[in-house]
Amino acid sequence: MRELLSEQMIQTRVRELASEIRRDYEGKKPLLIGILKGSFVFLSDLIRELNMDLEVDFMATSSYGDATTSSGVVALTKDLDVAIEGRDVIIVEDIVDTGLTLSYLCRTLDQRLPSSLAVCALLDKSARRETEVQVDYCGFDIEDGFVVGYGIDYAQKFRHLPYIAIIEEEVHE
Ligand code: IMP
Repeated sequence: MRELLSEQMIQTRVRELASEIRRDYEGKKPLLIGILKGSFVFLSDLIRELNMDLEVDFMATSSYGDATTSSGVVALTKDLDVAIEGRDVIIVEDIVDTGLTLSYLCRTLDQRLPSSLAVCALLDKSARRETEVQVDYCGFDIEDGFVVGYGIDYAQKFRHLPYIAIIEEEVHE
């Protein structure tokens, strides 16, 4: 396992993303939707850096399970507790990989007529995209490879790491 993004690098970038979002949503009360489980650490740091009037809710989609490749099938396993019609919604994702999850989420949420819908993702593996999705606030564009830490898991492990690491082939197998 090799460190890809240090705790310091993440903290600096989260602070920058927060100031962009705070500026763009001035005078508004955005609803941040964390996509479970991978985004919970990012979301909790982001809202404390945002330090503005906001609300938080969560959604969960079917995950990779213990495998490291996507089946391409996305299902909603936990829906929101609140209605989003007329709200300024920001989806908060850990990683955008093929884009299939995000594309499904955007379509689902768009149908509920939010006033605006934006995406904030900590990591973007843009080279692996299979469907076009717009990431409005992106933390880091990263190389291909399986990453863990800062809330992101491999078979439910490594979420507690304060940094982001890339798993080398031996563990990946
Ligand atoms: P997509 O639908 O292919 O864009 O996949 C997005 C989801 O797959 C992310 O929200 C993660 O939960 C998971 N994922 C993608 N790449 C990784 C990775 O490198 N490590 C852990 N989870 C990942």
